[in-house]
Formats: sequence, C-alpha cells, structure tokens
Amino acid sequence: MNTSSDRVRVAIDGPSGAGKSTVAKRVAEAIGADYIDTGAMYRAVALKLLRDGVDPASDIDGLVDLLSHTDINFTQGNVMLDGEDVTSMIRSPDVTAMASRCSAFAPVREKLVGLQRKMGDAKSVVMDGRDIGTNVFPDAEYKFYLTASTEERARRRYAEMTEAGGVADYREVLDAIKKRDYDDAHRSLNPLQRADYAILIDTDGMGIEEVITKILSYMGNTD
Ligand code: DC
Repeated sequence: MNTSSDRVRVAIDGPSGAGKSTVAKRVAEAIGADYIDTGAMYRAVALKLLRDGVDPASDIDGLVDLLSHTDINFTQGNVMLDGEDVTSMIRSPDVTAMASRCSAFAPVREKLVGLQRKMGDAKSVVMDGRDIGTNVFPDAEYKFYLTASTEERARRRYAEMTEAGGVADYREVLDAIKKRDYDDAHRSLNPLQRADYAILIDTDGMGIEEVITKILSYMGNTD
C-alpha cells in the first residue's frame, strides 16, 4: 500500500462534455493511478432510486434508508452497484437527469464523498467530477479544470450519440447541456466551480492527445 508521501491525487473537474473522463482515464494509465469516475457513482445512486421508485424530493427517509444499504465500487473499470455491473445502464437520459437531481441532496453527497475520500486515501487516483478539487480533495497534489464552450460540448455529445447509432437532435442536446450546467453550478451543496489554483484548460479546438500532453507536462511527466 502507498504511504501518504508517495500517493498522488489528481482532481479533474469541469462541466459535462468537456472530455474529462477520456482524459482522466488516460492520465491515470500514464501515471499508474486508479481512475475514479465520480459522476458514475452519482449515476449508480440515481439508477437505484429509479429502480426502487424512491423520489428524493418527497421521501428523504427512503433516500437515507436506500443509501444505508448501497455499495458502489469500481472493478476493472466497471461500475459495480451492490455487486452488479451497471456500467452500461447508467448512461440513459433518465439516469442522467436523476443523477443531476439526486446530487443536490446532502445524504447522497455525504455518502459518495466519504467513499471517494477512502479511495484516494488508499492509493494514487485520478478522479474526475464537479467538486473534487473544491471539496473531496481540496489538498490534491494536482488540480485541473477542463472546460469548453457549450456549443462545442453539445457537438461532441451529439456526435457520440449518433456515432453510437442513436437518434439525436442537436438543439435538444444543447438545451439539456445548458440545463445541467445551470443545475450543477447553482445547487447549494458543492456546486461546480473552479477550485483555487486549479489549472484551467479550455479544450475548444484541442484534440484529446493535446489535452493529455498538456496535463502530463504540468505534472512533470513528459514521457
Ligand atoms: O459527470 P457525469 O455527467 O457522469 O455526472 C452525473 C451527475 O452527477 C452530474 O449532473 C452532477 C453529478 N456529479 C456531482 O454532483 N459531483 C461530482 N463529483 C460528479 C458528478
């Protein structure tokens, strides 16, 4: 096990569609750390709420009870919810909307932030999300804030959806991103914001390789 002196925590925050997950995964590979997709953890809770028919807005006791017997971890990059691999189930529009909603509730954040801190205490991690540099690891060794214009992020999301064989409407994708940006940045608990000293990378017009190289060079890893 790593000691605190040789483990590294890398925080990569930013709005949805900024390319965080692809970049964070590759940076983790490059430095030999675990990649933790914290958005996937909120999505897993959202999936369980939907399955169990618990609406956090009207049933806070039900939410607390559900969280008390919820286990989320990552096994070989897959998201495990109570032992079940839910990786492919947590990307639907319903789960996306519920993940954004449920992330505003204190019991959800307390539970997931607690799990995330444990993961980062145990070993080196590259964690992406909205509040990693501001709240989960304010003392992270490296902090980055990745962003891109709303239109660029909507174009990327639209391309992802149509390339995967789905049907998508660019205008709807753009409106959904704007709504999520607003909700993520305006909730009272740990809203999306750039952490102090986080290095800002605007990925408009940048390729993934360029972003990864930039991050690794900031970290002094130029291989
Ligand atoms: O990154 P994502 O789209 O998979 O995240 C899903 C939702 O989870 C997002 O709308 C906001 C929430 N989230 C959060 O509140 N805090 C994080 N650290 C990560 C995600």
